[in-house]
Amino acid sequence: MRIIVTDSYEEMSTVAARIVAGQLYLKPNSVLGLATGSTPEGMYANLVKVHQSVGLDFSEVISFNLDEYIGLDKENEQSYYYFMHKHLFDHVNIKPENIHIPNGNPENLEEECKKYDKLIEAKGGIDLQVLGIGQNAHIGFNEPDIKFEATTHKVKLDEETIKANARFFEHEEDVPKYAISMGIKTIMLAKKIILLASGKNKAEAIYKAIYGSVRPDAPASILQLHQDVVVIVDKDAASLLPEKIKRFCKINKNQEQPSRIYKFYIIEGCFLLCQL
Ligand code: GLP
Repeated sequence: MRIIVTDSYEEMSTVAARIVAGQLYLKPNSVLGLATGSTPEGMYANLVKVHQSVGLDFSEVISFNLDEYIGLDKENEQSYYYFMHKHLFDHVNIKPENIHIPNGNPENLEEECKKYDKLIEAKGGIDLQVLGIGQNAHIGFNEPDIKFEATTHKVKLDEETIKANARFFEHEEDVPKYAISMGIKTIMLAKKIILLASGKNKAEAIYKAIYGSVRPDAPASILQLHQDVVVIVDKDAASLLPEKIKRFCKINKNQEQPSRIYKFYIIEGCFLLCQL
């Protein structure tokens, strides 16, 4: 796991966009796993800028979104379908047939979930997965106490998540109670993952994700076991991390960044060595 601590939300967004752009330059037909929420908005704005200014090409990109509320129409401004078109898809040259977002109003939900996972596999798996994080350390809509082996599935949203996301809706009662989400297994199968977080309200979740034990009540902690994760956090989101991590991981424009910090974990009797 590599951790980059930035001074601001803007810097976090630029670093994340550079990683995604780099991925597309290296592999123009990349399969991207995409996230919604306020956190990646700045990253998407940067990607749109790079597309418009120097022609970053999305024509061969295939995308799979992490999740969608159940019960909202695509036209609903709070649907993740609407969000993705507003912030990215309407402004770049991605082909509509290459865009995949879970259908929040399927006839057969179980079939929809199975189809989604099969399609990801058929496209060769996700090359780069972008993640935000919930205040309760959820990723996608994988709420605490999720089964780590879950694939795409229906989830009941936590009260905390409903409260946190109510800011986007007129009334808290309007927030859907259920969603369809890629599971932890689906996410962990991605070849590379970037996790973004900004603000003091994410500091505890980031601490649990990076430094806590790997446990289902902190779903993001499973990322410690993925072989290629870059965590990009602003200094507020990093504020609860131990000083040694912050010191080593702060972006320093004049210095090479030493990022080799290791930590041992013991999980169900197995020793694991993680590079932080
Ligand atoms: C939602 C999404 C997550 C996202 C999280 C945090 O619950 N399903 O993918 O990471 O919110 O959102 P925000 O970035 O707005 O804090």
